Amino acid sequence: SPRVLSGIQPTAGSFHLGNYLGAVRQWVALQESHDAFYMVVDLHAITVPQDPADLRANTRLATAQLLAAGLDPERCTLFVQSHVPEHAQLAWVMNCLTGFGEASRMTQFKDKSARHGSDRASVGLFTYPILQVADILLYQANEVPVGEDQRQHVELTRDLAERFNGRFGQTFTVPKPYILKETAKIFDLQDPSIKMSKSASTPKGLINLLDDPKTTAKKVKSAVTDTDTVIRYDTAEKPGISNLLTIYSTLTGTGIAELEQKYTGKGYGALKTDLAEVMVDFVTPFRERTQQYLDDPETLDSILAKGAEKARAVAAETLSQTYDKVGFLPAK
Ligand code: TYM
Repeated sequence: SPRVLSGIQPTAGSFHLGNYLGAVRQWVALQESHDAFYMVVDLHAITVPQDPADLRANTRLATAQLLAAGLDPERCTLFVQSHVPEHAQLAWVMNCLTGFGEASRMTQFKDKSARHGSDRASVGLFTYPILQVADILLYQANEVPVGEDQRQHVELTRDLAERFNGRFGQTFTVPKPYILKETAKIFDLQDPSIKMSKSASTPKGLINLLDDPKTTAKKVKSAVTDTDTVIRYDTAEKPGISNLLTIYSTLTGTGIAELEQKYTGKGYGALKTDLAEVMVDFVTPFRERTQQYLDDPETLDSILAKGAEKARAVAAETLSQTYDKVGFLPAK
């Protein structure tokens, strides 16, 4: 079956609703139909300053959340990036294939370095997308399930795969982004013109899955909408309401049209109250399951050890072919 690969950063602790709806939800679905590789990208996490104890705790926490969301280690390969040294090794080869200007055009680097101050931004942050290229190519992934903000990195992956194949002969599968239109970009609840993210200006716009459910309900009820009263999906005129409808629809499996119907003649308050309940029903068991996995770090670590072993088998094979193609003398 076709292969998928994706990754999530452990940095921030709790996943947010954008991570879940934009990516992790698709990961859970794809493990049924695809040969699926999913990882916690701790190498990427150190591209900005981080505390070692926090990183370790957050790596376990991210793993616990992925399991709580429905990843099943029997159905997918779940691992931590640093447990598979081939990621850093292939990244070096890819670094040497990437143009300086090409790397400079990556918009996420521009945003992040602007935030951290360009003097303090690390070279690791600059080459971040190239490590991501290595992540994907190592597994010969056909598709990469991500949110819209990662599209440019998958495009770079395609470019570098084709460049390498052209220069050294067929080696890498050229992957496609797997981005669902409806949930490609979940917006900030306080400012529906920007994507939901940890770096949002106010915490009220960000739904953390591990927040206290009461906080979550409050955030939904105070979501910024517009001064009209009609509940209609219209991203241009009604970005706030459209975002709430998207979230509601995905979490309940109810079509947008059906929701519009259901709320005909009702106010925004009714929609928000119901969505707050839907959200609480979703996050409450999610929090409980996450806590159960965290309470048993030995099981968690053994899942990751098995995952790393399976991942390494694939990654080592690709790296060895790559080393051979570029002309490295085999180590005897
Ligand atoms: P990260 O950790 O920032 O985000 C994890 C996933 O969540 C998606 N996402 C969103 N989707 C919709 N709406 C939003 N508001 C939203 N916010 C985040 C992201 O698109 C992502 O899919 N560079 C990656 C991690 C990575 C990776 C990889 C991904 C490293 N190597 C290889 C795929 C393949 C990142 O920082 O994701």
